[in-house]
Amino acid sequence: MGKFTVLNHPLIQHKLTIIRNKHTGTKVFREVANEIAELMVYEITRDLPLEDVEVETPMGKTTQKTLAGKKLAVVPILRAGLGMVDGVLELIPAAKVGHVGMYRDEKTLKPHEYFVKMPADIDQRNLFIVDPMLATGGSANMAIEALKKRGATSMRLVVLVAAPEGVKAVQAAHPDVDIYAASLDERLNEDGYIVPGLGDAGDRLFGTK
Ligand code: URA
Repeated sequence: MGKFTVLNHPLIQHKLTIIRNKHTGTKVFREVANEIAELMVYEITRDLPLEDVEVETPMGKTTQKTLAGKKLAVVPILRAGLGMVDGVLELIPAAKVGHVGMYRDEKTLKPHEYFVKMPADIDQRNLFIVDPMLATGGSANMAIEALKKRGATSMRLVVLVAAPEGVKAVQAAHPDVDIYAASLDERLNEDGYIVPGLGDAGDRLFGTK
C-alpha cells in the first residue's frame, strides 16, 4: 500500500488555517496556497538521491553533491491544481509541467478526463501530481491512470486537504503512489465536499462561483 503522510509543520498548519477561513479573499488564498505547496515540496524532496560531482570554486577543485536520478515534473489536475504549481516551481524551477484536465460531474460526482499534455520523457521523470483537495479520490485515480497509460512509472500525489475516503480510494487503486497532505480532515459531506475543508478550492483560487 502507498504511504500516506500528513506534513504538519507549524508553518504549514498556520497557512492552512488562513486559507480555510471563509473571509480570506482570492489574492491571499492564491498566495498562501502556493506557499503551502512550496513548504510541502521542501519536505517531500528530503529523500531525493544525490551523487558526487566535481566543481571548481575560486579556491580550487572540490567534490560536492548534486541531485541524481530521475528528473522531476509537476502535474496539476486542472483546474484547482494550478493553484499549487508556482509554489512547487519556486523550489524546482527547472521542473517540466504536465497538465491533466478532469471535471467532476456535479450530479454523479464522477470525474471525466478532457485534456492530458505531458512532457515526452514522462517515463523518466518523478511526477508530483498536485490537487488541493483529495475528496472521493475519483479525479486523482483517473489522473494517475491517465499518466500510467502514457508511461509514467513514478508518481507522488500532493494535496492540501485529504478526506479519509479519498486516501483509501487512491491507496486501493494505486498502491505504488505515495500521498502527501497538509491535513487529513474528518469526512465528505453529502455533496462531496470535505468537512471542515476550505470550500471549493477552484472557486476560491480563481474568484469564480
Ligand atoms: N473539491 C473542492 O474544491 N473542495 C472539496 O471540499 C472537495 C472537492
